Amino acid sequence: MSTTPPADVQADAPLAEALMRFCADPGVTFTTPGHKRTPHLGDALLAFDAPLACGVDDAQLSSDYLGRAERLAARLWGADLCRFSVNGSTHGNQAFALALGAPGDRVAVSRNLHKSLFAGLILAGLTPLWMQPEIDAGSGLPAGVPVAEVRRVLAEGARAVMLVEPSYVGVVSDLAAIVRLAHAAGAPVIVDQAWGAHLGMHPELPAGALRAGADGMVISAHKTLAAFTQGAIVLAREGLLDLQRLSEGFELLHTTSPSAAIAGSIDRARQIMALRGPELLGATLALARRFRAELADIEGLRILDPDDVRRLPAVGDFDPLKLVLLLPGTGADGHEVERDLNDAGVRVEMADRDVIIPLLTIGDDDSTVDRLIDALRRSLDRRRGAPRAVCTASAWRVRPRAAMTPREAFFAPRERVRAECAAGRISAETAAPYPPGIPVLAPGEIVTAELLSALRAEAAAGTRVAYCSDPTLNTLLVVRGAG
Ligand SMILES: Cc1ncc(COP(=O)(O)O)c(C=O)c1O
Repeated sequence: MSTTPPADVQADAPLAEALMRFCADPGVTFTTPGHKRTPHLGDALLAFDAPLACGVDDAQLSSDYLGRAERLAARLWGADLCRFSVNGSTHGNQAFALALGAPGDRVAVSRNLHKSLFAGLILAGLTPLWMQPEIDAGSGLPAGVPVAEVRRVLAEGARAVMLVEPSYVGVVSDLAAIVRLAHAAGAPVIVDQAWGAHLGMHPELPAGALRAGADGMVISAHKTLAAFTQGAIVLAREGLLDLQRLSEGFELLHTTSPSAAIAGSIDRARQIMALRGPELLGATLALARRFRAELADIEGLRILDPDDVRRLPAVGDFDPLKLVLLLPGTGADGHEVERDLNDAGVRVEMADRDVIIPLLTIGDDDSTVDRLIDALRRSLDRRRGAPRAVCTASAWRVRPRAAMTPREAFFAPRERVRAECAAGRISAETAAPYPPGIPVLAPGEIVTAELLSALRAEAAAGTRVAYCSDPTLNTLLVVRGAG
């Protein structure tokens, strides 16, 4: 495995610098993009839009700016293969699915998966053997995936293990133990680390998945690092994975016109992490500590505490930068609090009735955190009500009973039925409260009355239930005649 190179090598940002040079003096271009960055078709918005080929690099990519940038990222994250994606971790998850086996092969997948990985199972024709994360009764939130779950699915013939680490609420399973078990069975471990691009970059943070022994991971450089929206990195190690197949799967699903602006921003994000990661993350960790301390006096409000979470069953570690606010004790409704925050000009990553998650990153400072604290205080004062019991959202409650593989159900003939008639039928479509984007209804799985009514209640309360054909959930697409 490569080791982190000296900082002077990581100080280069070949693609970001080439992008800046090109945008400063693009010459006269008879290439895409059609807007040609000309002010009479727009404004400053267009200035940084540039293609990689026939733009920042030539048609033959002879300067290899992208390759050089990817090799630097590979060294920083300890990978043998690195690819920059302009289509998010969504793309990386799907490329990994295509690399893991052939249609019909069984793979172990944690059921807190993002819908993009479910789509990868459809594309690759894989049969998932689901692993259930523990649910923590105290918070209603998922803890880690127990090692026993991994042992069970390996015994059932899983040829690879796919996990989401950290989970949407910041929990990391006991990855080292899971990797040992999987590797002993010859199965590679792939981690969707979309929310943990910063892991391993500071001693107080959990290790990144690759450094913890996983064979592959995808990170959303746009979620917690400094890359443009959609920027993600696929990283993998030689050994149990077919890296050639992974590259082919990556190319199969990637645009042929990758934006040099997005890819260049990933290069810049990597350079910033390499040169200033510990300093920036140290400051962000201090902000997280201050946030928790300053809101500790709000009656009924619980903010997940890293030490408490680390003591839960099946938890290997917790990302202390993840701020998970639990509202049931305050009686406030998270949707109403979110509206107040929006009115105060403060946007948060996630809010449902019971949980609010503001995303804290290296882009924050004392002033942004002060605004968040102030807006939260005001809103919780205003919205306070009778405390209610902790309840687990539908996304964490799925215990699937599969009647078909995801791919069979996706291509099966379908019909629309009224919600009251859907229980017991096989879902032909996806319904995922967003965020966190976990499919509660998924192609091939039996619809249960309990989950459907939980989903409908969440939709009625203000949660966006995404990807289903009828957002009211009054009707549902199910597999025709089956179930
Ligand atoms: C766990 C997880 N994986 C993958 C994705 C997809 O990431 P991206 O938006 O970078 O495509 C998300 C998006 O939120 C996610 O939460």
